[in-house]
Amino acid sequence: MSTTPILDASDPASLDHAAALLGRGDLVAVPTETVYGLAADATDSRAVARLYEAKGRPRFNPLIAHVDGIERAQGLVTLSPLARRLAEAFWPGPLTIVAPLQPDAGISDLVTAGLETLAVRWPDAPAMTGLVTRLDRPLAAPSANRSGEVSPTTADHVAEGLGGSIALILDGGPCRVGVESTILAVDGERAALLRPGGIARADIEAIAGALGTPASVPGAPTSPGQLTSHYAPKAVLRLHAPSPETGEGFIAFGPGGPPTGEGVINLSQGGDLAEAAARLFSALRELDSRYERIAVAPVPDKGLGEAINDRLKRAAAAK
Ligand code: TXA
Ligand code: MG
Repeated sequence: MSTTPILDASDPASLDHAAALLGRGDLVAVPTETVYGLAADATDSRAVARLYEAKGRPRFNPLIAHVDGIERAQGLVTLSPLARRLAEAFWPGPLTIVAPLQPDAGISDLVTAGLETLAVRWPDAPAMTGLVTRLDRPLAAPSANRSGEVSPTTADHVAEGLGGSIALILDGGPCRVGVESTILAVDGERAALLRPGGIARADIEAIAGALGTPASVPGAPTSPGQLTSHYAPKAVLRLHAPSPETGEGFIAFGPGGPPTGEGVINLSQGGDLAEAAARLFSALRELDSRYERIAVAPVPDKGLGEAINDRLKRAAAAK
């Protein structure tokens, strides 16, 4: 049973209260434009240790430091000219930049998992940035789900997984983007895609040129967080299914698929990939609560489809 209070993220008094909790090392779930994050003071190892514990997360998986502007990011990492151009183009927004950690950044080793790089993001999320500003410190925030479960895109999703084990949930309504940020490792003038996400590859390549794989960029660590079965519902998923079989829930996509109805959720009847991304995790959760098997229609691999297909592949991976 959830005993964690839920407060309105748009109320400044809620943010004052949340900042006070974070300041004393407590954990607060905070809405962002991508998914809900579970925030802890990134400079406080005790708070970050609690965060790993609440998520049941393997320690080797490093965290993203959330900031409230480019200036604060530059106090934490060295942004190359390319990293700066990317930050200026996409921040605030669903882009995470992995760059060399500044020696005096003050970030807990538990955030970087001992790496010499740090993942930094300025989210387009007034609650998260408002908390960073109030606390005057970066916030480490993985998605606010127990490790291995589907990422939360509503306050209720957070309460289902973490209610009772964290101090507060801030409710900002459903997340606008719905899949996590795109993660890029940037080494000098080269960038590698570590995780597809809320900003499409083509938009990034318009600024960075062709993206490399992690192995192609010398400074790029392979992302230890990319556990294969990361976004795992309990149900068995069958991908690229043109239609459901008897007993299967069905995630459809586009005008060719059936509309949302009994046992069917159409991610976007109009074939809009941004709308589909925003609905993906809710759809997985809803069908997972009612079906042991879920069939998923093909989703085109362009634009945000790359992130959608990445998450679906992980959700379908054998456990
Ligand atoms: O949209 C998002 O990015 C959300 C919201 C809350 O901001 N956060 C999120 O955090 O998805 P999380 O912890 O679920 O995923 C962070 C990913 C992990 O796969 C981790 O391995 C990778 O970032 N990562 C963090 N630091 C890294 C580093 N120094 N090098 C390589 N990968 C890193
Ligand atoms: Mg996650």
